[in-house]
Amino acid sequence: MQGKTVVITGGNTGIGKATAIALAKRGADVIFTSRNAEKGERAKAEIEAAAGRPVRLELLDLASFPSIRSFAARVLDSTPRIDVLVNNAGLILDRRETTAEGFEAMFGVNHLGHFLLTDLLLPRIRESAPARIVVVASDAHYRAKDGLDWDDLMSTRRFRGFDVYSKSKLANVMFARELARRLEGTGVTVNAVHPGVVATEFAGKDDAKGPIGWFFRLARPFLRTPEEGADTVIFAASSPEIEGRTGRYFADRKDKAPSRHARDDAACQRLWAVSEALVERASQAKAD
Ligand SMILES: NC(=O)c1ccc[n+]([C@@H]2O[C@H](COP(=O)([O-])OP(=O)(O)OC[C@H]3O[C@@H](n4cnc5c(N)ncnc54)[C@H](OP(=O)(O)O)[C@@H]3O)[C@@H](O)[C@H]2O)c1
Repeated sequence: MQGKTVVITGGNTGIGKATAIALAKRGADVIFTSRNAEKGERAKAEIEAAAGRPVRLELLDLASFPSIRSFAARVLDSTPRIDVLVNNAGLILDRRETTAEGFEAMFGVNHLGHFLLTDLLLPRIRESAPARIVVVASDAHYRAKDGLDWDDLMSTRRFRGFDVYSKSKLANVMFARELARRLEGTGVTVNAVHPGVVATEFAGKDDAKGPIGWFFRLARPFLRTPEEGADTVIFAASSPEIEGRTGRYFADRKDKAPSRHARDDAACQRLWAVSEALVERASQAKAD
């Protein structure tokens, strides 16, 4: 990874932080994000101590389009190349919250925020080809048995935290597939990854007080460590073994078939079009 620049969202803790340490150790110039400056500075010190080289911290809140745009502008202004983008940040909530633009928070942060961010960074990623985009998704996407609810993407009618999260992760896998298709022949690969069930800050604190939070707290001793969870993310971001492979879904370093909804190309294209329209409408509303 010497000479390569890697951008990792949500690198202040969990799988993102373990990924930042591992890739910096291999010589990459790592830019990682945190939404909180204090947590970010603490993580920066930890990552640098563990990796033995400096890394760059940038503030980013994926629940705010201005924050995403400002982060992307800072990166584009200061970084001549982006060899790897790891869309890792994510959250599960057991109640309905909204982003600054009014989108349901899991769809808004896990999918839509990354959709906008990837779009803004894409010209630089394309210039840096061969380059990779890694989308940290989840096997939870298999739980979205009926696919996405096109009539209620913002879950206003019916809200069950784990269902809404599962759909946001299905959107991650569908986004990766459609972006891979669009980037065919450019030297930029896009793959989605399942990290396993991992003991991180996920579903912690105030995010999930009900059964989801209980599960993660009780099961904690039996879950993967963040380092184990990061293994397939690191593999997708850096392994020469999968050079050129794109549009895949990896778990435990193996190519795995995602759900039938995630393989439905028409649905993936529809999600792309809907996401574009949502981003455009929100950006327009801001400008008006
Ligand atoms: N843990 C699991 O079992 C598991 C299983 C499958 C998939 N995943 C996926 O793995 C990824 C990483 O999760 P993790 O387990 O490492 O969880 P984590 O320890 O909670 O880390 C999540 C990261 O995302 C950041 N984040 C949350 N909301 C954000 C926002 N609005 N803007 C910017 N950053 C935000 C968090 O920042 P703060 O520190 O400020 O909250 C944190 O840095 C997620 O996409 C998750 O869906 C996790």
